[in-house]
Amino acid sequence: MNIVIVGAQWGDEGKGKMIDILSRKVDYIVRYQGGNNAGHTVVAGGKEYIFHLIPSGILHKGKICCIGNGVVVDPMVLIKEINDLRKAGIHIDGRFKISSLAHVILPYHRILDQLRETKRTQRIGTTGRGIGPCYADKIIRCGIRMVDLLNPGVFRDKLKDNLKEKNEIFKKVYDHPGFSFDKIYEEYLDYAKALSGYICNVHLLLNDAVDKKKDILFEGAQGTFLDIDFGTYPFVTSSSTTAGGATIGTGVSPVKIDKVIGVAKAYTTRVGEGPFPTEFPPAFDKFMRNKGNEFGATTGRPRRCGWFDAVMVKESVLLNGISELAIMKLDILDNLKNIKICTGYKYKGKKFREFPYDFEVLSNALPIYKEMPGWDSLTTKAKKYRQLPGNAKNYLSFLQDVLNTKISMISVGSSREETIFLD
Ligand code: IMP
Repeated sequence: MNIVIVGAQWGDEGKGKMIDILSRKVDYIVRYQGGNNAGHTVVAGGKEYIFHLIPSGILHKGKICCIGNGVVVDPMVLIKEINDLRKAGIHIDGRFKISSLAHVILPYHRILDQLRETKRTQRIGTTGRGIGPCYADKIIRCGIRMVDLLNPGVFRDKLKDNLKEKNEIFKKVYDHPGFSFDKIYEEYLDYAKALSGYICNVHLLLNDAVDKKKDILFEGAQGTFLDIDFGTYPFVTSSSTTAGGATIGTGVSPVKIDKVIGVAKAYTTRVGEGPFPTEFPPAFDKFMRNKGNEFGATTGRPRRCGWFDAVMVKESVLLNGISELAIMKLDILDNLKNIKICTGYKYKGKKFREFPYDFEVLSNALPIYKEMPGWDSLTTKAKKYRQLPGNAKNYLSFLQDVLNTKISMISVGSSREETIFLD
């Protein structure tokens, strides 16, 4: 079975844990978009591993892990990740593949990402990893792909052309000295040497796997509302984070995908700027951030926290074709007196039951809440749904009804054992 895993909110839903669980059941795990703006920590065999680019499925013996063409790759970060795995005794050779068509993040992308944030009044709060500028170059057709890095002549001509134009922009617009061709050229040729054994036509490999009836897990990064088209634009990332991105970003046809599983937190979080209708007031925000350890895995930035927004997640279900939802971090809601779920918004006397895309409406929308009593016992010990406190079951049952989607997994702690499977 070929399954796509997507975040149903603004990222950081806990996809890492779900991917780790599902990776055991498939043959291939593939990233299809984003880059090292993503990050998750996996604890296995008492060791901690931090992944930004390589699918964490690499920790499971025999699994083939791929970086699809839709991903943007910072070779420096990738090589560090490879070396860290090697040091930890994880053998990746023959099991790790990078698409020859994936675009490469260059130093000017990283610097431009950071400079744009300081120059503009409307800051996005990016991760500063060069993601947006790299995708922008892809779209304006001056990007450099993995396959280009492998051909020194092609790489030289493209880089020369790019630097001619970019260095002028850096100097004139950003008062930045620009970049030396020789330095980047040499550095990236070294990267190419280090990575060449992993680069191949991943789209052919995956289609061959489909023909052989192998199982593939398409690992989404970020979340639906960071999608370049359907997210809270412009406060989004620069890729297609929704399920459709899985086919664009890997070259596997949509008709070959069997199922989309959505991952949502039992509440909501967001990193960076942008509207967030159900955001908690400051004191409660701080309390819940500490309770849920809501700090970014990539940048360490504090995440903004709020109530579960059913309007958003309902839209996610529709956009991604989610047939099953995993609800994560239910335990963080333990011991709260009351719990709220947003079921609509109000703005200027008008009610909205669907997600409003008008920036003014979304920025000022007042949530309409369904308030439910909390539970004062811990959910972490529950192994079965029936062992959950009654009010926790009521909460989940309400979510299921309002979203009209089956909840198939509930996470009540960070370890694999702290997961309730409903099927
Ligand atoms: P960028 O992807 O670095 O360009 O950042 C754009 C927006 O997406 C910012 O608000 C980031 O905080 C957010 N973002 C990017 N990656 C992640 C992620 O993995 N989790 C949560 N937010 C993210």
